[in-house]
Amino acid sequence: MPVMRSQIVGCGSYLPAQCVSNADLAIKIDTTDEWILSRTGIRQRYIAADGELTSDLAAAAARHALGRAGITADEVDLILVATSTPDDTFPATATAVQAKLGITRGFAFDVQAVCSGFVYALAVADNFIKSGQIRTAIVIGAETYSRILDWTDRGTCVLFGDGAGAVIVRATAGAATASDPDSAGILSTHLHADGRHRDILYVDGGPSSTQTVGHLRMTGKEVFRHAVTCLAAVAEEAVRANGLSLADVRWFVPHQANVRILEGVARKLAVGPDRMIMTVQQHANTSAASIPLALDVALTDGRIQRGHLVLLEAIGGGLTWGAALVRW
Ligand code: ACO
Repeated sequence: MPVMRSQIVGCGSYLPAQCVSNADLAIKIDTTDEWILSRTGIRQRYIAADGELTSDLAAAAARHALGRAGITADEVDLILVATSTPDDTFPATATAVQAKLGITRGFAFDVQAVCSGFVYALAVADNFIKSGQIRTAIVIGAETYSRILDWTDRGTCVLFGDGAGAVIVRATAGAATASDPDSAGILSTHLHADGRHRDILYVDGGPSSTQTVGHLRMTGKEVFRHAVTCLAAVAEEAVRANGLSLADVRWFVPHQANVRILEGVARKLAVGPDRMIMTVQQHANTSAASIPLALDVALTDGRIQRGHLVLLEAIGGGLTWGAALVRW
């Protein structure tokens, strides 16, 4: 069997129509624009309309990505939706997306790794491609966190937003080679979890435990500390595994949780702000959707270009964390 690598050949995104500024939130919640901005960098977030489902956001982002890649839906073998806000407990939101895209072939399932979901799903798609089982995957991060926020808890509800982003991943002949700028593709993925930290970021409900959906709960300072440490460590792990150094990476596209977390990671890695994509100011924290949303912004405005080395990395509830090093 010929050696295959995975190449990202298209990216797309979708944001709900309703944009809510910090000042808008301050009308309903005991908060201020100054508090939110100084603690998190967030200026606004998008909130899904009543009846607008995670699968609607996901399907819209997937259509956008398919169009950009010039690929028709009937070429898709696998649909992965990374989400922790699925439409229903089951079936998988990915199957709803499949139906909404009019696809009747291949297979579809959800990946649940909270804010690390997109990196986890990309790793799954990459391994299916490298094993020769599939040729084309849509990898989507899609969330409606507005539905699991406790809108009376000002310490969490101001941090999150809704949205979706998607990439099309295709099999390409030949191994991905770190030293060859012409061999576009995923060089490696690195996934981690440590369930001992489940209780610093969780949802207090679920089908088996409470038979309710529950609300997001977080010990912010603890999450902050782990986020900086794990994101810095996994970035170093990814470049080392490829015989590269952090200086070789043109763009860091981290999970968009909080500007202060990202500045902490940048300081630890000695990476200047000119190499870090930040969209949390406009999107807030959209969990599994945040990386593909940020990617789409940086591809559309021309910052990420062919041949660039791009490091995607995330941390989320679990804790889970991971990275993917990609030659664009
Ligand atoms: N508006 C106004 N005041 C607020 C708000 C708000 N929205 N929320 C909390 N406060 C108040 C608190 O009541 C407290 O007041 P008090 O001192 O009178 O009791 C004060 O602000 C400080 O509260 P802390 O929770 O200690 O605030 P902290 O400085 O730790 O900042 C924050 C909180 C921003 C959440 C911070 O801990 C953080 O950035 N954590 C990282 C967590 C994160 O970004 N998570 C995202 C999800 S996780 C992920 O994606 C990986």
